[in-house]
Amino acid sequence: MQMPASIARIYDAVYTQGQLFDVDRPLASDPLHTPGTRANSIAIAGGAFGDEGKGRIVDELCTQFARTASRMVIYRWNGGANAGHTVIVGGKRVALHQLPSGSLHENATVVLGKGMVVHPGDLLTEIAHLQPLMAQGKRLDLHIDAQAVLSLDTHRAFEAALRDWATGGLGSTGRGIAPAYADVLFRHPVRVGDLLAADWEGRLGAHYDLYSALMRGLDADFSIAEVPSLAEGTGIVGSYTDFLRRISQQAEALRDYIDADTFRLIDSAWADESIPFVFEGAQAIGLDPRWGVYPDVTASDPTFDGIAYSTEGSVQPWRIGARAGAIKATYSSSVGSRRLPTQMDDTLAHRIREDAHEYGATTRRPRDIVHIDLPCLRFFADVSRMQYLVLTHLDIAYADTPIRVCTQYTDASGDIVPYRPNQAYLDAVTPHYIELPSWDGAGLQGARRLEDLPGEALRYIAFITQALGVTPIMGTTGPEREAVIRWM
Ligand code: IMP
Repeated sequence: MQMPASIARIYDAVYTQGQLFDVDRPLASDPLHTPGTRANSIAIAGGAFGDEGKGRIVDELCTQFARTASRMVIYRWNGGANAGHTVIVGGKRVALHQLPSGSLHENATVVLGKGMVVHPGDLLTEIAHLQPLMAQGKRLDLHIDAQAVLSLDTHRAFEAALRDWATGGLGSTGRGIAPAYADVLFRHPVRVGDLLAADWEGRLGAHYDLYSALMRGLDADFSIAEVPSLAEGTGIVGSYTDFLRRISQQAEALRDYIDADTFRLIDSAWADESIPFVFEGAQAIGLDPRWGVYPDVTASDPTFDGIAYSTEGSVQPWRIGARAGAIKATYSSSVGSRRLPTQMDDTLAHRIREDAHEYGATTRRPRDIVHIDLPCLRFFADVSRMQYLVLTHLDIAYADTPIRVCTQYTDASGDIVPYRPNQAYLDAVTPHYIELPSWDGAGLQGARRLEDLPGEALRYIAFITQALGVTPIMGTTGPEREAVIRWM
């Protein structure tokens, strides 16, 4: 069995000496009240390649806070309409893309931060779906940071044209995310605040003209290029006049939600430690353009550092009580063309895919299922300075099938090498595994108490969390809302 000495020590402690590193009991100290940090604050980021089930965790945290707090802030710091999460409210399924998942809580102040890219049309559709579900006709208390960048149909059309071009735009969700972020780097972004500016027509008109020229350069045309639309399925950008007319209607509809002073709101709420703060990340650290593998990376900062940028420094990530990453407990899933080293045999991958419904939420594309990869996940935990872990899908485990965990890579010379965010490099490494005893996941389904976790699950959690250098705070044991295990 090949593994680094540090992992071998953890393996020995857990599987030979029977140490559980306290994962069999609630945390001795509450992460939400850690001296030196801001009380009642938590951030949840994706710890792998997205689709880990973060939205559900955020929703659960908000439900918990709502029991005691008369007000809370739910803050989304990155991404745009490329995210997707479904909540079931009063028997109705509601898909959330730009709004964070706790948005329906009546005491929630929901902030779409500067770090996001906002598509006004799709956001209005989402608001229209959500508003009727708010308790007692309460109005969604939504604040869209005027500094957030607009991600418009122009960006979507351009992204599609790039993708059709021989060498560009691969691997996007088609939601115009990368072009909107690129506008910032090119120093010509249009921002949410521009929608209400006195010269909005000049600003948005200049944007249209620029993107028309870019489209022409790619032999494409706004009048025929199809763009995705949440309300209608697809649409077209249309003429200059059509585009500006649509924008002006959307600006009017969003007017009351656009906030030119979110940093004042955040500053004062952050200073009052009785107000819970839940930061919801979109995508995942493995999709970060710096830490993921091209072309399957997004353009935003999904790490906790993104919070500092998005709040313009009002919130320093290290002041947040708990920075937690979510991963699937026994496997990872991935969409796109990236080839991860820890490929799984088709039979087991198929079994997991069916049991865990691992199909894209919007595209229904089957997700790749791979083994847990410690060099990679540890890298993501380290670069993001993750402290805590959320383990989802604890019920996806089979007593008759040990869980394979990759403990190290070696290169062609047999030397141990780390994870690097580079496909050619990853293609050349050989993963080495250990097999850990599994448990009856179906029997665990719906479990809500730590005492319900079988010994093998506890040992596995002790091993994984020690190897990743993090502490478990929550887990999920099934699709039902209540199927949550807590350490905090
Ligand atoms: P973009 O964010 O639309 O630019 O897409 C870039 C890449 O990020 C694509 O390969 C997507 O597969 C991936 N991606 C973006 N959002 C998500 C997500 O919510 N889950 C999983 N993958 C995502």
